[in-house]
Amino acid sequence: MKQDMIVILDLGSTNNTVLARAVRDLGVYSEIHPHDITVEELNALDNVKGIILNGGANRVVDGKEVEIDPALYECGYPMISVDYPSSKCEKQFAELPEEADLKSFIFDECKAEANWNMKNFVADQVELLRRQIGDRKVLLALSGGVDSSVVAALLIKAIGQQLVCVHVNHGLMRKNESESVIEVFKNQLHANLVYVDATERFLGKLENVADPEQKRKIIGGEFIRVFEEEARKLDGIDFLGQGTIYPDIIESGTKTAKMVKSHHNVGGLPEDLQFELVEPLKQLFKDEVRACGIELGLPAEMVYRQPFPGPGLGVRCLGAITRDRLEAVRESDAILREEFAKAGLDKQVWQYFTVVPDFKSVGMKNHERCFEYMVIIRAINTIDAMTASIERIDWDILQKITERILAEVANVNRVCYDMSPKPPATIEFE
Ligand code: XMP
Repeated sequence: MKQDMIVILDLGSTNNTVLARAVRDLGVYSEIHPHDITVEELNALDNVKGIILNGGANRVVDGKEVEIDPALYECGYPMISVDYPSSKCEKQFAELPEEADLKSFIFDECKAEANWNMKNFVADQVELLRRQIGDRKVLLALSGGVDSSVVAALLIKAIGQQLVCVHVNHGLMRKNESESVIEVFKNQLHANLVYVDATERFLGKLENVADPEQKRKIIGGEFIRVFEEEARKLDGIDFLGQGTIYPDIIESGTKTAKMVKSHHNVGGLPEDLQFELVEPLKQLFKDEVRACGIELGLPAEMVYRQPFPGPGLGVRCLGAITRDRLEAVRESDAILREEFAKAGLDKQVWQYFTVVPDFKSVGMKNHERCFEYMVIIRAINTIDAMTASIERIDWDILQKITERILAEVANVNRVCYDMSPKPPATIEFE
C-alpha cells in the first residue's frame, strides 16, 4: 500500500466521519476503527502513522467509560485524544482540533506524508483486487448509478474480462440511461456486459398495481429474480461486486454509536447463490467515489449524476403505471434535466425531477377542450436527504421548462411546481 494512515478509534463520538474527512482533506488517508481493536489487528493495518482517540456523546456505555486495550498505548504510535480524557495522551483536545493543530499532529509528530490521492488509491486497489480475485470471476449488477459504475470501471481496470456486468433495464429508467450504460461500458471500456431488457416483464407485473409499497416490492423482488436468473446462466462465478461506500458501513452502526439504518446493497439475494463479496469502494466517501470515477476516465455526466431511486420512474408515475404516463414522466424529466443543465442549475440543485399523477384535468388545445395529465416539477436541496428545502427556481427558467413540456410532451396540458419541504412531504411522491 502506498498511503500513510491515521487511525481514528471510535470511543463514542458522533463526529467520526467529520474527523476522518478533516484528516483526508489534509491529504492523509484515515480510517475509523472500533475502540476495542486489538494490537494484532492494529499491526495488521498498513502504514499506520498515528492514532486519534475520538470520544464524545456516547463514550459512557452502561455507566462505564469505554476504554481501549491499554497495550495500544505501548505500541509506539503518536496519539492524541478528542473529547476523551486520557492521562496517557500527550495532547488532549476538548473538541475537534483546529486545522493547525491537526496538521501539527499529522505531519510533525506522526511524520505522515500527504500521499492520499485517487491515483494512488486506484493503483493500490488494482493490486489488491488482482491479489484477492486471482483468475476467478466477479459478477456485478450494473445499474448505471454512480457507485456501481465506479466499481465496474475499477474492476475492469483490475481484471478486465473476468468481470461480468449485468445491466437489467426494468423499463423504468430515465431517457437514454440504458443506452449510455451500453455506450460507456460495452463500446468504450469493452466490458463483458450482459444487457437484459426486462421492460415487458416489469410492466406486466406492475399492471393495475396502485399501492406505492406494493409497487416498490414488485420492482425490488423482480429485479432480484431477473438478476438471479442471469447469474445462474453463468459459469464459475466466485465473487459478487458491490458498490458499498464508507457511509453505508459507518451508518450501519459502530460499536458505540446507535444504529442509524442498516444497508443491504443487494439485499434479499437467495442464500444458495453463494458469493464472496468484492467491495473496493468501502473506504470512500461519496465525493471521493466521484473523484475515483473521474480518475478512471468515466464521463462527468455519469459520475456527477443526481441520486435516482432504485424503483426508478416507477415511483414517479404515480398510482397504477400506464405506458402513456410513464412516457410523459420520462420525456418531461429529460426536458427538465436539459434546461437545468443549460441554466447551470444541475450543479446547484441536489435533486430535481418530474412526476405525473394518475388523474386528468380540463384544458384547451387548438381551440378545443382537452382532458389530459399534469406534470409536477420538484427541485430540492438537502445535505443528507433526511430533511429538504425547495429550490427557488428563477421564474423565467420555470416558464421556459413549462412551455417546452406543454409543447413537446404528449397527453399533458398542465405543469405545476411542488412547494413542499421535507417534512412533511418526502422527496419522492411514493
Ligand atoms: P424520500 O422520498 O424518502 O427520499 O424523501 C430520500 C432520498 O432517497 C431516494 N430514494 C431512493 N434511493 N432506492 C434508492 O436508492 C430507493 O428505493 C429510494 N427511494 C427514495 C430519493 O430519490 C431521495 O434522494
